[in-house]
Amino acid sequence: MSVAKKEYKRVTVKSLIEMKQNGEKISMLTSYDYSMAKIVDAANVDVILVGDSASNVIAGHETTLPITLDQMIYHASSVVRAAKRALVVVDIPFGSYQSDSKEALRSAIRIMKESGAHAVKVEGGSEIKESVKRIIGAGIPVMGHLGLTPQSIYKFGTYTVRAKEEQEAQKLKEDAKMLEKLGCFGIVLEKIPAKLAQEVAQSVSIPIIGIGAGNGVDGQVLVVHDLLGMTHEFNPRFLRRYMNLYEEMSNAISQYVGDVKSRDFPNEEEQY
Ligand code: KIV
Repeated sequence: MSVAKKEYKRVTVKSLIEMKQNGEKISMLTSYDYSMAKIVDAANVDVILVGDSASNVIAGHETTLPITLDQMIYHASSVVRAAKRALVVVDIPFGSYQSDSKEALRSAIRIMKESGAHAVKVEGGSEIKESVKRIIGAGIPVMGHLGLTPQSIYKFGTYTVRAKEEQEAQKLKEDAKMLEKLGCFGIVLEKIPAKLAQEVAQSVSIPIIGIGAGNGVDGQVLVVHDLLGMTHEFNPRFLRRYMNLYEEMSNAISQYVGDVKSRDFPNEEEQY
């Protein structure tokens, strides 16, 4: 069921700001390859995030840190070929923007030029101010990401809820304001108290997209493999699974194995 307030043939960063102004919630979902992105785009998801969660979901790493810029560009270009309506946002991976703002801009330019994506996303606040400023200065739309920022997992030491304490909450609020002022077109808030996320969403004019940040924000993002139940060992409270694809796929593949072993496949109609 669609409750879109306005039809968008192509979602742009401007459309997202308009959606916030119109009180229309923004849907965002990850994709890392052409086939999945085609389905996600056809279902009218507003923003496709080529997340560095590809490092976990696709490559099987424990964290998002190992994925490289070249690998992100490969995933992003596959998604861009599929996305006819959605805005495609690509994570700049760990190690490609933190050292200095010139490197950050070079990485962002590579993503935009080589994949054809529409925007980039970076994790962090005041620490990466110069990089955000320089990328936006070059005309590249930037989305921020605050709260639980997985690229800093070894600093946090755990994936638990962030900004429960006043000092961290205060910094997060200041960082959100700063990112807005620098010209970011939106911010992802990950795993923070719902009340704080709502306060941030009400304090800025750009869209706030939550993951584990409650319902008082301007939109939601999930990892598509989690939503479809393809992953089954990851069970955070914020995750709503819409299918148990892990089970469905396992059953289908087991059936195929059985059919091959029993010589049932291929049958008369399935051969030349
Ligand atoms: O990489 C990713 O998938 C993300 C989302 C969890 C927001 O950054």
